Amino acid sequence: MGRGFTLLEQGLWFEPGLPKGYLQMLDDFEKIGRYDHSMSVLELGSLFAYNPETALGRAQDYLAGVYGVKFVWPSTNGTSILNIMALMSCTHPGDSVLLQRDSHVSVYSAIVHHNLEPVYLKPNYATDLGLPLGVTSQDLEAALNEHPDIKAVFLTYPNYYGVATDLEACARLLHQRGIRLIVDSAHGAHYRFHPDLPLSAEQTSTALITQSQHKTCSTLSQGSLALFNEESLIQPFYEWANLGGFVSTSFSFIILQALVLGVLQLEKQGRTLLQNALEAAYWAREQVNQIPGLKTFGLEAVRPGFSTLDPLRVTVDVSGLGLSGFEVCERLMREFNIYPELATFQNVLLMFTLVDDLRVVRRVVQALRRIAADTRGHFQQPRLELPPLPAMRLWPRAALHHRPRRILPLHQAIGQVSAETISAYPPGSAIIVGGEEVTAEVVEFLQAVKKLGGSLKGASDPQFGHIQVLES
Ligand SMILES: Cc1ncc(COP(=O)(O)O)c(C=O)c1O
Repeated sequence: MGRGFTLLEQGLWFEPGLPKGYLQMLDDFEKIGRYDHSMSVLELGSLFAYNPETALGRAQDYLAGVYGVKFVWPSTNGTSILNIMALMSCTHPGDSVLLQRDSHVSVYSAIVHHNLEPVYLKPNYATDLGLPLGVTSQDLEAALNEHPDIKAVFLTYPNYYGVATDLEACARLLHQRGIRLIVDSAHGAHYRFHPDLPLSAEQTSTALITQSQHKTCSTLSQGSLALFNEESLIQPFYEWANLGGFVSTSFSFIILQALVLGVLQLEKQGRTLLQNALEAAYWAREQVNQIPGLKTFGLEAVRPGFSTLDPLRVTVDVSGLGLSGFEVCERLMREFNIYPELATFQNVLLMFTLVDDLRVVRRVVQALRRIAADTRGHFQQPRLELPPLPAMRLWPRAALHHRPRRILPLHQAIGQVSAETISAYPPGSAIIVGGEEVTAEVVEFLQAVKKLGGSLKGASDPQFGHIQVLES
């Protein structure tokens, strides 16, 4: 695997931050590998109980100090399990929770596990930029007025493109109303280490924050942190860690040590490394904007739902070439050995991490220049209008358990209750959730995404000619 990363060294523009950071921290990781005691040395501490006398307890205290929060729980199973345990710690079965429709699938898992009633905030979509935005505090206020029984709110900050809402305003509003806010900041673990980056979620009055250090810092895959601003959530969180079954009893000390090392690197060198990466990203933006047919946006594009941007995410709009983002991504990989983070109909996303600087970024800009110079295509950009949210007939947990089901051709399924939860990429959001009514708009939207080269996650029929529905 290390050799693969070395071969790709010059062209990685995706998460996790590790592969590139890995090369820099190879020596440290080799040392970790030699000392993997994992569960065999109990004195090291346990993820199932906090003990400040152990190595793990001291590491937790150190991490809490660096992130400026009351408590930290490190995960060796990524942010996915943290999102589940966070939402379950803040709610009781049967509660209503407010969440973004484009939340990570793990938030839907919590809804199923805990039998919660989801109330969705439809993402604001920027048609000109071809990407979803965050929710505004006005969106939140309107939803809370309409649903006064909401017990907790779950937001994502930022999204994949580094686009983020005014989280402080959202957190303030919820604080005033006495409603707990949980924030999935999987992509924001590095924010507090450079002043040019957005405000970090843990610096707001958010009760509980989850972060994937393995995405934007130099740490091993699945190394993530739950950051607690609210102490009363620690005890329920440990109860779920112990009894929820989400945490392996053989948790990985290798990942825990790498997590600490990754944060240590940020604490000691983060400012300098991030400064280099930011300069490279600013330079790339400037260069891309000079290439005919390509453009990228910055803070001049702010609007409701987009009030701050992580400059280390450079979204390259390729629509001016008459090509789709998928086509440009494919050429970057095949011809130039350059691997972007993701592609959509309109965009290719490059992610800059701690070890990028001006030296390495030139190669990607040259490749984009070459593609732009020799290609003009005929790809017609679709105007992505998200379909209206379908009516919920059954809560997600009841839908998942419901039997019997039957498989119907799409046109016959309209008006029936879906057994399937299907997310479309792009835009990266659940379009129908199990228990919701299948509508003509949903079917048309999903068919269009598939036809244009996007993917449908969760559809049982790979051709998407049929869908499973619930039989009454
Ligand atoms: C917004 C968001 N939240 C949570 C996750 C899950 O994180 P992890 O891979 O650390 O489990 C992801 C993964 O891509 C994500 O994009």
